[in-house]
Amino acid sequence: MSLWQKAIEDAVRKTKANIERFGDQFPHVSSNGTYALNDNNEWTDGFWSGMLWLCYEYTQDDAFRKAAVGTVDSFHRRLDEHRQLDHHDIGFLYSLSSKAQWIIEKDEAAKQLTLQAADTLMKRWRPKGRYIQAWGKEGDERNGGRIIIDCMMNLPLLYWAYAHTGDDKYLNAAVIHADLSRRFLVRGDDSSYHTFYFEQETGEALRGGTHQGYMDGSTWTRGQAWGVYGFALSYRYTGNPLYLETSRRMARYFLERLPEDDVVYWDFNAPVNAETKRDSSASAITAAGVLELLSHLEPDDADRAFLEDGLQRTMTSLVENYSTIGQPEAEGLLEHGSYSVRGNNAPDDYMIWGDYYYLEALLRLERGIPGYWYERK
Ligand code: GLY
Repeated sequence: MSLWQKAIEDAVRKTKANIERFGDQFPHVSSNGTYALNDNNEWTDGFWSGMLWLCYEYTQDDAFRKAAVGTVDSFHRRLDEHRQLDHHDIGFLYSLSSKAQWIIEKDEAAKQLTLQAADTLMKRWRPKGRYIQAWGKEGDERNGGRIIIDCMMNLPLLYWAYAHTGDDKYLNAAVIHADLSRRFLVRGDDSSYHTFYFEQETGEALRGGTHQGYMDGSTWTRGQAWGVYGFALSYRYTGNPLYLETSRRMARYFLERLPEDDVVYWDFNAPVNAETKRDSSASAITAAGVLELLSHLEPDDADRAFLEDGLQRTMTSLVENYSTIGQPEAEGLLEHGSYSVRGNNAPDDYMIWGDYYYLEALLRLERGIPGYWYERK
């Protein structure tokens, strides 16, 4: 059995055990090895749904489908009640739940729900500043003019909605936001700001900053990872070579800085000592993103060997040094993720998105199953 296969089998077994443990609730991040559960009101709840769909695609075991459909029902209610949707992560939530169901089984109600979710995300488009506001209410003093790099992974919901409706409002918002992110969040040396502020009335660029990184001008590793994957997906949907180039350069920046064991610390600028926290989820996202990036490169592309080597090193270390293989009762798949190190919020724990991207990358490597960011051919 290959290393990837062994890791997948372990992940599938644990996910099945978690169906019973989690019941109708959704995992977020862990504390002392136990996932904190919620009633579908976190930005992360789509990742559990996505893991169930991935496991269903891999095994065809109906227990996974039943649980996944249960999560989509929950996402229907969440949208109907407009519960905890006042942020841009609607893209994460509905891409991996209802959009996944549509992709796998062409369920019409799931498609309609996903389109409704795209409309909800569009409510965060700010025509004056010409960006998608990440957090907070419109006009909010602190966050009204703020974009964050994580949003690159929310844009596929808008591109997908354009593909299904032909209404170019979705496409225009996504493209304008991606261009703005490329210009202001990605720096000249291919590193990235986590967030950037604009003047709300005029869209004038003000300054870069951070929320979860080490400091305003540093490079939060998970932010860089969102950029690697997000720009590759913007390229897939638009064909704009500048997005492919941005993904490639951000991936090079990330992989050129892998530490000794090939899994990154939480921020590329954080001083490294024996206490410095890792973020295994940033490495898992980057691995999945590099797989997407590689799918667009020519066989003889000059960066291919470097990117493939970084991918192999990352995934091997995640499986061998960070996975919970060998701990059959563990709830999580990957140890040593960090949600917010400076905020001391789950600085060294399981992150459900780390588990999701780890499984997505494994399944893409082993079976060519690419996740739910876009329609299959
Ligand atoms: N998108 C929020 C995070 O990566 O923590």
